[in-house]
Amino acid sequence: MGTVNTIIAFVYLLAAVCFVAGLHLMNSPATARKGSPLSMWAMVAAIAATIAKMGYDDKTSTTAWIVLAAGALIGGVVGLWMARTVKMTAIPQLVSLFNAVGGGAAAVVAIADYVRLSGVSSSAITTRDAVSTVLDVIIGAVTFAGSLIAAGKLQGWITGQPVIFPGARILSGVLAICALGGSGYLLSGADNIPVLMVVLGAALIFGIAMVLPIGGADMPVVIALLNAFTGIAVAMAGFVINNSGLIIAGALVGASGGILTKLMADAMNRSILNIIVGGFGTGDSANVVVGAGGADIRQISAEDAAIQLAYATKVMVVPGYGLAAAQAQHEVRQLAEVLEARGIEVHFAIHPVAGRMPGHMNVLLAEVNVPYTELKEMDEANNEFPTVDVSLVVGANDVTNPAARRPNTPLSGMPILDVDRSHNIIVIKRSMGHGYAGIDNELYTDPKTGMFFADAKRGLAEIVAAVKTLVG
Ligand code: TAP
Repeated sequence: MGTVNTIIAFVYLLAAVCFVAGLHLMNSPATARKGSPLSMWAMVAAIAATIAKMGYDDKTSTTAWIVLAAGALIGGVVGLWMARTVKMTAIPQLVSLFNAVGGGAAAVVAIADYVRLSGVSSSAITTRDAVSTVLDVIIGAVTFAGSLIAAGKLQGWITGQPVIFPGARILSGVLAICALGGSGYLLSGADNIPVLMVVLGAALIFGIAMVLPIGGADMPVVIALLNAFTGIAVAMAGFVINNSGLIIAGALVGASGGILTKLMADAMNRSILNIIVGGFGTGDSANVVVGAGGADIRQISAEDAAIQLAYATKVMVVPGYGLAAAQAQHEVRQLAEVLEARGIEVHFAIHPVAGRMPGHMNVLLAEVNVPYTELKEMDEANNEFPTVDVSLVVGANDVTNPAARRPNTPLSGMPILDVDRSHNIIVIKRSMGHGYAGIDNELYTDPKTGMFFADAKRGLAEIVAAVKTLVG
């Protein structure tokens, strides 16, 4: 038995090392494809070690084995089906659902263990058990309820606008008193399942109340935060059932989710608190008329854009949310190909929060096999803009707005792509509509900028067709 436990502990340790190595490999698109299977096989080994441990402990009843097998089978089939059929644009919703089940499962583990210990004797619940149970239930339940609301908002089942209801602050206060009061009572040594249920209920309602007032466009940051919560809840579940594999995996998810949340907030120059309590942004405004804002703009046609691009030496494509909304990744790839066939150097400048989810542009461009060597991260791209003949901005707005360099604008301080430093600029979008931050873009009134008003998919297809008709 001692040897078996040592082997199992060793497998957990090996799995943990592989999780860390897998995360490290995911740092770069070149190695990310290796990082994912490494982490997956490490998780398979950790699950196998857990099953072996249960088998050797000999405390698992036949019924429990059947329930476990049925749960694993149903969960595995549904998870595989969802992962295979989900559209790229629906990945944030899927991640949110995965967060919900992760947080919910962690909370259920803690409740089940508490009920079991409570049935043994009231003194069976130590302070350590009570602390990890209470934290697991609160964080897991907030994550479960909040993630379901976030997924509903992104899927359009719940309005993407902030839902603000009267008495929200009072409700939050009452919920905090219930959760903290109940937790304090349980931590004082009391063994009381109904009080644990009150804490659970307060945390569930708090999760809903926390996410409802946040606008749909801020959801990716909230999802990253809830992902970090899932990790912490899972680590707590590891303490509850004394499983080092769960503690390590949960801690890694908690830490990486936390780092991602901070990076996203920094790239938008906003604090996490500002996002949670609501900040700028009401989403796209497609119906704003051309020329809104008063300043002059220069409007161009697909043919004008084609001529500028076809006779350039170096082109930088700047994709944004509009490219994703129009699903224009195939057309942008085609344009890059026809330009490259003419001997033109084409690169893509990727802002860290372009689009609506981390890596949104990278995922779209990878889907159509744009070589990752053509992608330039913000700092690298900014060094290149002064030598770029034509920057082609496709459905990108805030991430290119020079207003971010000035104080007292909603974008002030947000690092931007220095598109205005290139020799010529072409912008494809449908109107003078604002981006997520809701302000005019000074790039559009720059004399070097030509505005081509079109849906990104249709506009790019027209430019490709026009370039093909040009000779020389
Ligand atoms: P935005 O500033 O949101 O602008 C997108 C532009 O796309 C809009 O101005 C819209 O103009 C245009 N558009 C929409 N549909 C289009 C279509 N079918 N064809 C052509 N154009 C279309 O996008 P961005 O520059 O990518 O910046 C991202 C913003 O989202 C930033 O403010 C960022 O802080 C925020 N944000 C990002 C994330 C992550 S993780 N990426 C998370 C939360 C928030 P028209 O209506 O005139 O066409």
